[in-house]
Amino acid sequence: MLEIQRRLGEARHVVVFTGAGVSAESGIPTFRDALTGLWSRFDPAALATAEAFRADPALVWGWYEWRRAKVHAATPNAAHLAIAELARRVPVLTVISQNVDDLHERAGCRDVIHLHGSLHAPRCFACARPYDGVLDKVDAGDEGARIEPPRCRRCNGRIRPGVVWFGESLPEQPWRDALAAARDCDLLLSVGTSGLVMPAAQIPRVARQQGATVVHVNLDPQPVEGDDEFTLAGKAADILPRLLASPGR
Ligand code: APR
Repeated sequence: MLEIQRRLGEARHVVVFTGAGVSAESGIPTFRDALTGLWSRFDPAALATAEAFRADPALVWGWYEWRRAKVHAATPNAAHLAIAELARRVPVLTVISQNVDDLHERAGCRDVIHLHGSLHAPRCFACARPYDGVLDKVDAGDEGARIEPPRCRRCNGRIRPGVVWFGESLPEQPWRDALAAARDCDLLLSVGTSGLVMPAAQIPRVARQQGATVVHVNLDPQPVEGDDEFTLAGKAADILPRLLASPGR
């Protein structure tokens, strides 16, 4: 930990790359954790694809509205707050998230790069116009409720969640921005991600390949190689505040 704190203290540009694990202690389900993960309870193909939405828009929209309600009822945890504090200490901090929640923003981070979109950016499934209507309040306890999606004011198409579904490409500008940050940073913290979903999972590797220090923060120890890669096993909400508590910053 001391060596990491020293490098963090010297870093000019830090990237924090996050996955569902950073929001776990805010009560937001991850995807692949056994028992509690969403994909251990639901089939992604049945909920997180354009085909699923075409087949049953009310089921898919209802599921994402349930997720949005859970996020609304949640609060940023100590990991989110530590990342926002880090942004105040290092010269440049770029947060790249695979998460579709707004907990980084609610913790005080700005310009978060959302590689997989956001629950808070619904748009028309037909013409892609952003939806500017008011979304109804949804009960977070009502998992699996079917809700008819609203309609687009321009073309009357159904409104879809503003997230990237399986089989869809990542938004171009966020992807370009994320690659640029990974190529420029001195240190990358990879927090709470299984690193299974491409191309997002390439980001730590891009940083590593250009000589950045990479630190994995995950419940499970991650495979590391060489002197510039580290793994810190434990909860992000415990580890990140400790990283900042050092004399290094
Ligand atoms: N602190 C740190 N790490 C944690 C914590 C925690 N409290 N809780 C869980 N983790 C770790 C798990 O060990 C796991 O490695 O977070 C990771 C969560 O992995 P996934 O559930 O696969 O989530 P993620 O990596 O974000 O998935 C990537 O896949 O389904 C798609 O679009 C979805 O953005 C998502 C992408």
